Amino acid sequence: MPERKKLRIGLLTGGGDAPGLNAVIRAVVIKAQALGHETLGFICGWRGMLNKEYVVLTRKEVEDIQREGGTILGSSRTNVSKIPNGFEIVKANMAELGLDALVAIGGEDTLGVAAKLHAAGGHVVGVPKTIDNDVNCTDYTFGFDTATNRAMEALDRLHTTAKSHRRVMVVEIMGRHAGWITLHAGMASAHFVLIPEVEYDLDELCRQIKQRHSNGAVYTMVAVSEGFENKDLARRIMHSAEKDDFGHVRLGTGIGVGQALAEEIEDRTGLETRHVVLGHLQRGDPPPSTACWARARGSRLWR
Ligand code: F6P
Repeated sequence: MPERKKLRIGLLTGGGDAPGLNAVIRAVVIKAQALGHETLGFICGWRGMLNKEYVVLTRKEVEDIQREGGTILGSSRTNVSKIPNGFEIVKANMAELGLDALVAIGGEDTLGVAAKLHAAGGHVVGVPKTIDNDVNCTDYTFGFDTATNRAMEALDRLHTTAKSHRRVMVVEIMGRHAGWITLHAGMASAHFVLIPEVEYDLDELCRQIKQRHSNGAVYTMVAVSEGFENKDLARRIMHSAEKDDFGHVRLGTGIGVGQALAEEIEDRTGLETRHVVLGHLQRGDPPPSTACWARARGSRLWR
């Protein structure tokens, strides 16, 4: 049999961290090493690629990391398209380092850059990651499951305080312009779910909340996605003016949709209302495979 060419593979993680990133890093490194290939891990996403900042990854560096949340390589929202001659720099760095291929693990922004690099002749594999679950041609991105479970658990816990105090509780959930986390967690544990993909009239929402309460309900849980838009809320919302490299406004800062909606509901219904912004709590966790990992440990897959 002809001898297989030994490859040098680059690996990077970009965008918001998500549980499961380390498991993917580990899988790539272990598989590559088993086939005799070498893996270089670039620090903080595309920034490391542009600066040639990397570490050599072997089985030793990635041992057991699948149980940790976040990413051992670090992440950033560096946008190669925004850097003058960014793609030329990346291609030149790849050539200089002798990289045969690059594995980019990220969401729509990181993979958007990866797609452009591919179109410019680079050998790139994209791995879909984001808690938001909004990557094209993919049913589920990793990170989504954990974030949804965290949001659902938070909603579950907030029921008791809302009920004890006879309040309406508004819970703002991450997802930028995609409502998947809010939809799944909210269907499991809220009375009302508001997502960016569906218009919702606030008069109608408040009418239904009041009706619930006049029918005997003593509290109401509302799950709202951070990207939910409504003209009546717009006048109350005040986000930080700061934008990231991809032009995204920082949601969940200043007066976000959760607070605006809570104020609007209280004003319109007269019911005491509180809001909670879950924010980054939804991202900071080990992936759900930990239990599976413990169970599978004895199996031949892990030897
Ligand atoms: O894209 C993942 C995500 O968690 C979004 O749901 C959220 O709007 C955004 O990242 C927050 O970004 P950052 O961590 O940069 O504040």
